Amino acid sequence: MTARILIINGPNLNLLGKREPEIYGSDTLKSIITDCKQHALSLNLDIEHFQSNDEGELITKIQNAHTFQAIIINPAAYTHYSVAIRDALASLNIPKVEVHLSNVHKREAFRHQSMTAGACDAQLCGFGKKGYFLAITYLYELLSE
Ligand code: DQA
Repeated sequence: MTARILIINGPNLNLLGKREPEIYGSDTLKSIITDCKQHALSLNLDIEHFQSNDEGELITKIQNAHTFQAIIINPAAYTHYSVAIRDALASLNIPKVEVHLSNVHKREAFRHQSMTAGACDAQLCGFGKKGYFLAITYLYELLSE
């Protein structure tokens, strides 16, 4: 059976490509997801992608994600203060990886704390778009065990 992985991206990540490219790179979200799907296909994984700028929509998507085998999430700014997204992730009993394009630890102090990482199995940051590909490879290996 082909495993299904849900990639969730939070607020302002729809602006990738135009948004602070010196921090987040020049690739659009659309091209990153296309590359993720390509990589996943080579591992016989299926990717669904969801982006929202709305905390409630993200929570509802997480609550309904039990039909997937794993989740990759970049909660963007919600990472740093959303107890509600953390609680939604904690309620979900599948492997979860948090990804950040930038190295949040090299940036402002308020980005050093993640409310959400503690509800995930692993966190990747500072690898740019490769963080998503690394998360897919990790989950592939985990799900193949
Ligand atoms: C981000 C880092 C967050 O601090 C920021 O609010 C984002 C993007 C990242 O991918 O590097 O929107 O999650």
